[in-house]
Amino acid sequence: MNTIKIAPSILSSDFSCLAEEIIKIDKAGADLVHIDVMDGHFVPNLTFGAPVVAAIRKVTKLPFDVHLMVTNPQDFIEPFAKAGADIITVHAETAPHLHRLVQNIKEQGKKAGVSLNPSTPLPVVEEVLADVDMILIMSVNPGFGGQQFIPGAVNKISRLKTMLNERNLTVDIEVDGGINAATARQVIAAGANILVAGSAVYGAPDIAQAIKDIRGA
Ligand code: DX5
Ligand code: ZN
Repeated sequence: MNTIKIAPSILSSDFSCLAEEIIKIDKAGADLVHIDVMDGHFVPNLTFGAPVVAAIRKVTKLPFDVHLMVTNPQDFIEPFAKAGADIITVHAETAPHLHRLVQNIKEQGKKAGVSLNPSTPLPVVEEVLADVDMILIMSVNPGFGGQQFIPGAVNKISRLKTMLNERNLTVDIEVDGGINAATARQVIAAGANILVAGSAVYGAPDIAQAIKDIRGA
């Protein structure tokens, strides 16, 4: 069984004190910092650019898990890599040349992830499975924190796990959206090993306990 990693999403944090909010999850036992980059085009919301990532890079040693929800990811790989990203994830829906994007991320010396919206079929990533470090299965439609988990994600994770096993590949399976202790149990059983959680972590009275509850689900 894989170790479970928790990646709190700073989308649900208090932006007026972002540095403190990151230090909080670091002290509370987070494994990664999930950074949701939104462009107002691919998703109907705007968040952080590379300068913000460079600024918060100074406050923690935790790996930065940058989730690019942008229509032109090719323009942002290098800036976010230079800003301090450790994992860069692009959406398959935004990339006619997904293989090239994955190579671009690796050329920057970073781990490459590919994400799929709830409505995007799994076979879209089949040909790049051997090249990626991580597949991110969205369990909500991207754009906002605090949405309800879409149950179909569980079966999608199981099918991805089977595809990876059949190919003898070790690729992280991350899941993002509506994760709490209850949904965590289902996605972990299905094969996910990196769990993103925004509102369930930052909205909890005790952040360390929330992380522990999700990890142990
Ligand atoms: C949604 C983002 C998520 C979001 C998750 O577009 O990709 O990372 O922050 O938030 P919760 O855990 O509240 O669903
Ligand atoms: Zn995300």
